[in-house]
Amino acid sequence: RLGGVQGVYFPQTPPVFTFGHIEYLLVVDSWPEFKTVLTPLCYLLQVIKNKLDFYANLHAAFYSDMDSCQALLENEDSIDWGRAFQMQGEYRQLKNKHLGWIAFCLLTHPYLFLFFRFKSDLLHFGTLKPSHASSLNDVWDFGGNDRSLCYLESLIRNFPSACLLDKEGQLAAWCLIDPYGCLTHGYTFPQYRGQGWIGLILQNLGRQMHALGFPLYAAVLAENEPSIRSLLNQGFHILPGTYYTLISTPVPNPKH
Ligand SMILES: CC(C)(COP(=O)(O)OP(=O)(O)OC[C@H]1O[C@@H](n2cnc3c(N)ncnc32)[C@H](O)[C@@H]1OP(=O)(O)O)[C@@H](O)C(=O)NCCC(=O)NCCS
Repeated sequence: RLGGVQGVYFPQTPPVFTFGHIEYLLVVDSWPEFKTVLTPLCYLLQVIKNKLDFYANLHAAFYSDMDSCQALLENEDSIDWGRAFQMQGEYRQLKNKHLGWIAFCLLTHPYLFLFFRFKSDLLHFGTLKPSHASSLNDVWDFGGNDRSLCYLESLIRNFPSACLLDKEGQLAAWCLIDPYGCLTHGYTFPQYRGQGWIGLILQNLGRQMHALGFPLYAAVLAENEPSIRSLLNQGFHILPGTYYTLISTPVPNPKH
């Protein structure tokens, strides 16, 4: 519901995970007719103290017209370019020179997980706790610092997750959901790879997301063949097009 306008639906954009009725600032390209809605998602996570923290300073742009989205994003008043942020979408052509981008393919699932009984002497399902975040941070290619650790802790606290533990209670494999409602941080330790463990985790998370009424989708680096194969093995389909995570970091002002 947007300022009395109900049923806003922009099919080009992925769904975003939102809780209940939270009021917060939205930026639109025009009013009352609008083609683009820009919203920060950081309110879902934590107060962001560090200006360089692009992990938690997430934004989403919903749009029915790429040009209007681009024009809104290039408007200096619509987004705080003085803080690092990231945003997902198809709009790679943004001209602002402080933006870097990572290309992904999107996969979605039709929700037809078969009921299964899982029993193994090797691994069992456990609960991911914020104290596990440092293990996740250690193996994350884009992480390994204090800000990424804080971000991972907040994902574990706020969103669904699933993990498998060994007999000693040590992590073997896991997957999280991010504030975009996207499967993220899927990981299996090398000694357990190629045995379908991540598939069990995807099924577990799929049922959690389904129960919450959300669709299931994943964004994967196009060259990550093991990850794409593990998703295809579970019945995911690759969506057409390429999606981008844009990362903007402020350039220090040389006068200061
Ligand atoms: C992607 C990943 C989570 C898959 O986990 P998994 O539990 O091994 O998943 P699966 O058993 O379903 O295997 C998936 C694919 O990995 C490949 N694979 C098989 N054995 C493997 C092994 N010993 N080592 C590495 N990859 C292997 C195969 O391509 C396999 O697909 P196939 O069974 O159709 O041939 C895991 O490889 C991983 O943690 N990679 C590093 C982190 C990463 O890239 N995460 C995804 C971020 S989007």
